[in-house]
Amino acid sequence: MEISVKKLIFQEIKEEVVGIPLVKGESLPKEFSEFADSIRKGEFDGSEGQILPINTREMAKFSRLLLIGIGEAKEVSPELFRRAAGSLVRYAKASKCTATAILVPPRFSRDDFVQALAEGAVLADYKFLKFKTKQDNVAVDIRELVIVADTKLSPAAKKGKLLAEAQNYVRKINEHPANMATPQKLAELARTLAKEKKLAVTVYEKDDLKKMGMNGILAVNQGSDLPPVLVILEYNKDKKSLPLYCVVGKGVTFDSGGISIKPSKGMQEMKYDKSGAVDVLGITKAVAELNLPIRLLGIFPATENMPSGSAQKPGDIVTAYNGKTMEVLNTDAEGRLILADALAFAAEKKPEAIIDLATLTGAIIVCLGPHAIGLFSNDDELSKAIENAGENTFERVWRMPIWKEYGEMIKGDFADIKNIGSESGEAGSITASKFLQEFVGECKWAHLDIAGVDLIRASHPYLEKGASGMGVRLVVSALEIIASKGLAGKMAGKD
Ligand code: BES
Ligand code: ZN
Ligand code: ZN
Repeated sequence: MEISVKKLIFQEIKEEVVGIPLVKGESLPKEFSEFADSIRKGEFDGSEGQILPINTREMAKFSRLLLIGIGEAKEVSPELFRRAAGSLVRYAKASKCTATAILVPPRFSRDDFVQALAEGAVLADYKFLKFKTKQDNVAVDIRELVIVADTKLSPAAKKGKLLAEAQNYVRKINEHPANMATPQKLAELARTLAKEKKLAVTVYEKDDLKKMGMNGILAVNQGSDLPPVLVILEYNKDKKSLPLYCVVGKGVTFDSGGISIKPSKGMQEMKYDKSGAVDVLGITKAVAELNLPIRLLGIFPATENMPSGSAQKPGDIVTAYNGKTMEVLNTDAEGRLILADALAFAAEKKPEAIIDLATLTGAIIVCLGPHAIGLFSNDDELSKAIENAGENTFERVWRMPIWKEYGEMIKGDFADIKNIGSESGEAGSITASKFLQEFVGECKWAHLDIAGVDLIRASHPYLEKGASGMGVRLVVSALEIIASKGLAGKMAGKD
């Protein structure tokens, strides 16, 4: 989609569909007032989410006007502009119109609103149709969006497009099922990205992982016929004066549960258990494109979790990369085993902070449903940056406690730690986080449990059903916030 920002007057707008966001009770802008007669009384009042298409009947160079309600003026946020752009794009696609424009009301003439418009439009335009050989209803892609606003807002539109495209890149990869998106395939995608964005890339293969003592990854991989990988992408590798950050993602390309096998109902959704790893690809891509003044290590382990004669068994004891011993009481709690190695690897690099993303626990879905990402962190300032990023991007997070008492729940009987807390699953997301914390040493660290948000199941204002790509805009925004002022001083957390 081509997105441009142009300062146009009514007579100059010639795109087929023109969206006008209106706050509650507001009348049409003066130039458009002749269309007010087409609105029947009570038909449209600008309530949030309302839309009203108007046929312009040759009274303008464009053929339709779409009124989009954005609710009470004082409650308008960038998210409502993401949704407004989503409504416009969905309407245009359904009407087979490919050229669109949207007005920015003068009082919303701000970077964050324009960035949000571009994001909403690009996100709403995307749908995964690659494997539909016959399409009953051929989808049209929107060719053009003209944002009618001051041209000084043009960089914001460009940024919104870039971020949404990084998110769509993640959605597309993540939608591929386990017979296609194998660990090796994810490594290949990392190599391609590295080439395109001039990043350094290292792929540790099974033999390397054996030599390195990455036994968490190897243990989970034991039941699979496909070899595992550990992928490291490096942005600004040689700029040693820049602060270093690590982003780590869980890459389980299929989670059957292993010997502690999952019920078959819904198991197909476990192709999305690689969401964290794919987010790492998208985050690294966006950070490089935005040229952020940081050094970044994008790290992900990737493997399947399968049952077989060679699979790991409940009771097995495994030594992670940092030497800690882990008792595997449930082979379905595999994410933490592969992240143990990857986080210990990241911590060894002594970064300013580590952020990990993982579809780690079903328990976080019980806690927060699809509306928030679980945040677990040993540092208040890092948490604050991520919380603010959550508000900016509407990928909202909710911080959970990681008090030391929860750590008691994963003390091992025969090894240092066990990979589940109680059998009943009490505080399941927190005990999983306490497990991860064992591997980050003294680093400032935040864990994002994205199990509730990586997949869109219900209707959403601008994301189609399927992989959401959530986490990319959040973490990029958090890194921007942190990079702009750094993380001060000693770690401060409520541990
Ligand atoms: N990948 C799952 C978590 C998950 C569940 C993600 C549902 C998305 C939707 C994870 O590996 C897992 O199976 N966790 C177990 C942990 C338990 C055995 C302690 C869970 O949440 O049930
Ligand atoms: Zn599992
Ligand atoms: Zn899993």
